Amino acid sequence: MRDVTLIPGDGIGPGIAKATVDVIEAAGARIRWHEHVAGVTGVEEKGEPLPPDTLASIEEHRVALKGPLTTPIGSGFRSVNVALRKHFDLFANVRPAYTILPQARYPGVDLVIVRENTEGLYAGIEHFIGMEKDPRAVAESVMLITRYGSRRIVRFAFEYALSHGREKVTLVHKANILKYTQGLFLEVGREIAREYEGRVVFDDKIVDNTAMQLVLDPYQFDVIVTENMFGDILSDEVAGLIGGLGFAPGANLGENAAIFEAVHGSAPDIAGKGIANPTSLLLAACLMLEHIDQAPVAQVVRAALERTLVAGDTLTPDLEGGSAGTDEFAAAVISNFESDG
Ligand code: NAI
Repeated sequence: MRDVTLIPGDGIGPGIAKATVDVIEAAGARIRWHEHVAGVTGVEEKGEPLPPDTLASIEEHRVALKGPLTTPIGSGFRSVNVALRKHFDLFANVRPAYTILPQARYPGVDLVIVRENTEGLYAGIEHFIGMEKDPRAVAESVMLITRYGSRRIVRFAFEYALSHGREKVTLVHKANILKYTQGLFLEVGREIAREYEGRVVFDDKIVDNTAMQLVLDPYQFDVIVTENMFGDILSDEVAGLIGGLGFAPGANLGENAAIFEAVHGSAPDIAGKGIANPTSLLLAACLMLEHIDQAPVAQVVRAALERTLVAGDTLTPDLEGGSAGTDEFAAAVISNFESDG
C-alpha cells in the first residue's frame, strides 16, 4: 500500500476524481488515499485556498493526485497551482503526449515536454515605471534564468530520457535574440549534453521554428526540454496535435514531492452535470502509478482507456458522438479490463 494525498478539486474535479479512483482501484492500484481540500472548496470548507492540513499531507506522503482548482480571475486568492509549485519547489513539469483517438489530427504522436516550472518570465518579477502623470507608463518583467535551475531541468530531461527508453533530447530556446538569458540556458544544455554523449542524442532548436516543426513533422521530436513560458505554450500546442487538453496529463516533480494533475481546468460550465471526461486525470493517475512503482497497473488502465476511446460507443459529450456520463465512461473503461483475458 502506498499513501497518496487526493485533492478532488473544484467544479468537475470531485466527479472526475471519483471516476479515476474507481478505475485505478479496479485495476489493482494499492493506494491508501488521504483526501484534502484546496481552491474554492478549501475556502468554503476550511476558510483558505490552501489549508495547512492539505500541505502537511503532501509533505508527509510526497505524492498527490490533484483535480482542477478554480482560480478567481482578477481579484480573490492567487493560483493555488502556482503556490503548490513554489511551496514544494516542483521544478519539472512533465507533459507526455501520445495519440489515442483515431480521429486525432496526427496519428502516432509520442513525445514528452519537460518544462522548467519555477524560473523565466513566470518567476513573476514585474513592476511598473511611472512617467509624468501615468503611474503605469511602462511595465517591465524579468526573465530569470539561473545556471542552477537550467542544470537541474536539463539533467532531469536526460535522466527522464534514459529511464523511459527515449533516444533524443531537443533543447528549445531563443538564444539568437535573448543572448544572456536564453544563451545561458543553451550553454548549460550543451554542457550537460556532453555527459550523456553516446547514450542520448542531443540537438537544439529555436522556439519559433520548433512551433512550426511540431505542426509539419511532430515525429522528429522525442523529449523536448525548455524554459517556463516556452514550455507552457508548446505543451498546449502539442496537446492540440493529439486531440486537445482532454488527453493531456501533467506531472509536477521536485526533489521532495510530486503532484499529478489533469491539464484542463474546473470547467464551471459543466460542473455538477456528471458529464465531464475523466481521461486527462486518468492519464495523470497513470503517470502517478509509474512514479510509485505500480507501472503494471498503469498499463492495464491505459490499455482499457484506449480500447474505450477507440471503440467510441461510450464517450462523454465533449468527444464527437458522445453522450455518456462520467461514471458510465468509467464503468466502460473498467469493463474493458476483461478483454485482456
Ligand atoms: P477549463 O479547462 O476548465 O474549461 C475550458 C472548456 O473545456 C470548457 O468548455 C469546459 O467545459 C471544457 N472542459 C474542460 N475539462 C473538461 C473535461 N474533463 N470534460 C469535458 N469538458 C471539459 O478552462 P477555463 O474555463 O478557462 O477555467 C475554469 C477554471 O479552471 C478557472 O478558475 C481556471 O483558473 C481553472 N484552471 C485550473 C487548472 C488547474 O487546476 N490545473 C488549469 C486550468 C484552469
